[in-house]
Amino acid sequence: MLQRIVRYCFAHGSHKPTGPIFAPSVQDKMIYINVYNDGEFERIPAYIGESLLTALRRFRVTNIPGDCEGGEQLDSILENPVQTNTFGPTCGSCHILISSPWVEKLRDPFYLEELIINRQDYAVAKQSRLACAIKLEKWMDEMEVSLPINENSENM
Ligand code: FES
Repeated sequence: MLQRIVRYCFAHGSHKPTGPIFAPSVQDKMIYINVYNDGEFERIPAYIGESLLTALRRFRVTNIPGDCEGGEQLDSILENPVQTNTFGPTCGSCHILISSPWVEKLRDPFYLEELIINRQDYAVAKQSRLACAIKLEKWMDEMEVSLPINENSENM
C-alpha cells in the first residue's frame, strides 16, 4: 500500500517543490544576549521563544538560581498567561536588570511578575525584571542584561 502511495506521489509530481524552499535556518531562530555577571561579560546565544532564564542556565550563568523556573512545571506562564492552573513565578530568585533601551521596549510586567518583584527584599530598579517571565523575541538581539551583584548568589 505504501509503495502505491509513493508511486502515485512521484507520478503526479506532488513531491516536487513548486517554488524556492525557504526553510528557516538556525540563525533565523537565534539571537545573542550580552550578559554582565559579577564583573565579567559574556555574549550568549539564545533561541527565540524560550525564556531568558532558560538561555542563561544553558550557558551556566550560575548565580541565578531561578528556583521555581517561572512556574513552568504545569504550563508555561509565557505561553498562556491567563491559564488558571499555571503557578507562574513564585520565588523571585531570577531577578535581573535589563539595560535601556531594551527595558523600555519590553511589554509591561504581568501582574504576577510585578507582585513577585515588589515582594522581594532586594532593591528594585526601573530595569528590574524576572528572567523567567521574559520570552525572547527577534528584536531582543544583543540585549544587555546584568545580574544584580551578590543578591542572587546568597540564595544558592
Ligand atoms: S524562577 Fe522563580 S520567579 Fe523566576
